[in-house]
Amino acid sequence: MRTPASLLVIFGATGDLAQRMLFPSLYGLQADGLLPPAMRILGTGRTEIDGDRFRAQIGEAIRRNLAPVECNEATLQALLVRVDYLAADTGDAASLEQLGERIRALRGDGDVVYHLSTAPRFYTPVCEALGRMGLAGPGTRVMLEKPIGHDLASATAINDGVTRYFDEERVFRVDHYLGKEGVQNLLALRFGNVMFEPLWNARHVQQVQITVAETVGVEGRGDYYDHSGAMRDMLQNHMLQLLCLAAMEPPAHFEPSAVRNEKIKVLQSLRPIGRNDVLTETVAGQYTAGAVDGHMVPGYLDELGRPSHTETFVALRAHVDNWRWSGVPFYLRTGKRLPARTTEIHLQFRAVPHSIFPGAHMQPNALTIRLQPDEQIELKLMSKTPGLDRGGVRLSEVALDLDMHAEFAAIRRRPAYERLYLDAIEGNGTLFVRRDETEAAWAWIDAIFDGWRHAGVTPRPYPAGTWGPAAAVAMAERHGHSWRD
Ligand code: BG6
Repeated sequence: MRTPASLLVIFGATGDLAQRMLFPSLYGLQADGLLPPAMRILGTGRTEIDGDRFRAQIGEAIRRNLAPVECNEATLQALLVRVDYLAADTGDAASLEQLGERIRALRGDGDVVYHLSTAPRFYTPVCEALGRMGLAGPGTRVMLEKPIGHDLASATAINDGVTRYFDEERVFRVDHYLGKEGVQNLLALRFGNVMFEPLWNARHVQQVQITVAETVGVEGRGDYYDHSGAMRDMLQNHMLQLLCLAAMEPPAHFEPSAVRNEKIKVLQSLRPIGRNDVLTETVAGQYTAGAVDGHMVPGYLDELGRPSHTETFVALRAHVDNWRWSGVPFYLRTGKRLPARTTEIHLQFRAVPHSIFPGAHMQPNALTIRLQPDEQIELKLMSKTPGLDRGGVRLSEVALDLDMHAEFAAIRRRPAYERLYLDAIEGNGTLFVRRDETEAAWAWIDAIFDGWRHAGVTPRPYPAGTWGPAAAVAMAERHGHSWRD
């Protein structure tokens, strides 16, 4: 199982993700000497171009995407000699036969990794074709991009289709957030230090907030996005994964089963939000025209060019019903065209049980783990304000601030796909999503959609450049909490 790959086959190799992220990440691995020396890379897609044109195209994409860092031409050439391309139509048997022959010819002695970076409707047919051609047996594994389906039923159908040919240990479901340095650092912070874990529970934490805010709109992906929306595009996967890592029990080892066994327990402990709760526990929004970063931007409907009830913002109040988190609300929000790009997990601790400083305005301690745009860990504490104060001590809130970029200034920050490719090539599934996680997440999300349909919820407008509809603020305030802005 853990033989490094001798062939990586990328389906959807001429697509946007491949050009923007996948090949630049392979370049990064090449530069660091981390690709198995004899590993070949076969790109495939519907675009009819030859190998030379393809290599020229990805060379350009790599140079463009690395900028302002200069691309090292020798490294690029060392990557490109590994690369080949074959146009294939996954709906056409003859075309797939040809692809199969090329895979056999390039395969070598090691494992084969298939990376399906296509629309999910192709996942089952591609796996079936690989299975039919005898190319899905032991020593092969498959990486699947999100979204795995649109709801529980479609996710189950995809998972059934794929696992008919690749057993679960050979299925690597990508959630690129798990490849981010900051996300792994959350685990390092929790389980590499002794001082946080004793406080990491309902006795000491009053509320948790997870924010994934983006300033971008739908960036020409309207057709995909409008069928998805913030809930399916971000919350079902990236945000619930962050919630799992923030809330899970310590795994015994940093290895696939141990980590994923703990994550699934969190998903299984999520209190369902259904028909009776959606109006009080969730808020959906859709941006209208407004100013982001000082520039006027059009509203979602104008970008899309047609009417739509798709949410571009969602906020909700979740509960992890287990011993550790009983009664602690987890506020989750994500949206497009918000005022800032930021991803963070914020724990607000409980107030001190008794203050010995009369008149002092005591703020509860808070820990913020910021993953984007910069990795930062900030601990808010109360401290004495310098000075001679009559009749007591004056306190102020101060921050212990760890800027990871400054701390590790000499170390290159790796994009998520470098980690994920390296792990998939080496057969390590720890940072990939297991079937039961995807399905438990969909089951939870499906109940919310059912509630929205039942209650006739449509997204509330919010001007681009604001933190979502006022109702999201009201939702937290009803419980005596406020969002961090
Ligand atoms: C993707 C979503 O999964 O994540 C996009 O489909 C979103 O809509 C993107 O913009 C955000 O990723 P990142 O790494 O920029 O935070």
